[in-house]
Amino acid sequence: MSYKILVVDDDKELRESLAENLEIKGYSVLTAKTGLEGKELFLKEKPDIVFTDVMMPDGNGFYLLKEIHSVSKDAEVIMITSYGDMDMAIEAIRVGAGDFIPKPVKMNVVDVALKRAIERLSLKQAIKSYTHNLEQMIQDRSVELTEQIKKSNTFLKGIISALNIIIEKFDPFNTGHSKRVAIITKAISVKMGYPPSKVQTHQIAAALHDIGKIFIPTNILSKPSALTKDERLILQRHPIIGYEIVKEVGFPSIVPKMILQHHERLDGSGYPKKLKGNQIAMESRILAVADVIEAISSKRSYRPALGLTKAIEEIKKGRNIKYDKDVVDVCIELIAKKRKDFLEGTIIF
Ligand SMILES: [Fe+2]
Repeated sequence: MSYKILVVDDDKELRESLAENLEIKGYSVLTAKTGLEGKELFLKEKPDIVFTDVMMPDGNGFYLLKEIHSVSKDAEVIMITSYGDMDMAIEAIRVGAGDFIPKPVKMNVVDVALKRAIERLSLKQAIKSYTHNLEQMIQDRSVELTEQIKKSNTFLKGIISALNIIIEKFDPFNTGHSKRVAIITKAISVKMGYPPSKVQTHQIAAALHDIGKIFIPTNILSKPSALTKDERLILQRHPIIGYEIVKEVGFPSIVPKMILQHHERLDGSGYPKKLKGNQIAMESRILAVADVIEAISSKRSYRPALGLTKAIEEIKKGRNIKYDKDVVDVCIELIAKKRKDFLEGTIIF
């Protein structure tokens, strides 16, 4: 590669002899007499390497170096310093010059400085193209990943919908229950500040929370009257069955846990394990409130829909006793704001 070199020196003889020597070696050379002239030429021609005297009228070498670096850090600047002035040479390097050559200028010293400047330029170029390739690779990869995530989300949504259809076949009086519980769970989780990935996980658990009912006899699920004690014990196995089904699927571990705990209550009055307080995960407490709100406000096999007001009454009554107080407060606030929308809409994964 042929490099473009700018020589800036108020000493005509030195400027011209240096330029001539560099031209003989095949470089394209520009010259300027002052720092200011050098700056204008640099901006116009964008040379790769600049040799500049330090002591010049009208913008010295330090001024020129600063001006060059404010435009581009790529150019290599070599300062020509006075004989024996080591302080100036050190200062030149400190403020960003690539190298310095002392006066009187000797061509063998110029050659070495030039060779090293070219090596630094090649290295900068290599780093630049590597970084560019890396950025491109990252960009390509993220487009690919976004596509994959979209595809798997669609796939997951399909599987969950299919499972919901199966659940509803076994429990026809609960049509739409899981879907609405997932919507409520999502709304509460968002309001409580969970990040989108966790909200999605909670929605999955909510959509599948009653999956264990597929192993509960239909005559128990659809019984139009109150259940006997034995029937209730059988029904109360559905969180365990659901947990067993889902735990092997590979969802985050909170999904089977939420399914297992969605009927547990803070005071230990829930089932299947009669857990208390902190033994119940916060995510499960969210699902529990969402489940209760939906179940009470909708129709059941053994009773008509009781409505949202009754549902709110229940969670208020059980606040900090059966249900987590923060979850209850968030839920009530959400219902107050969007009462109509609260039980409508679709699951968005
Ligand atoms: Fe349930």
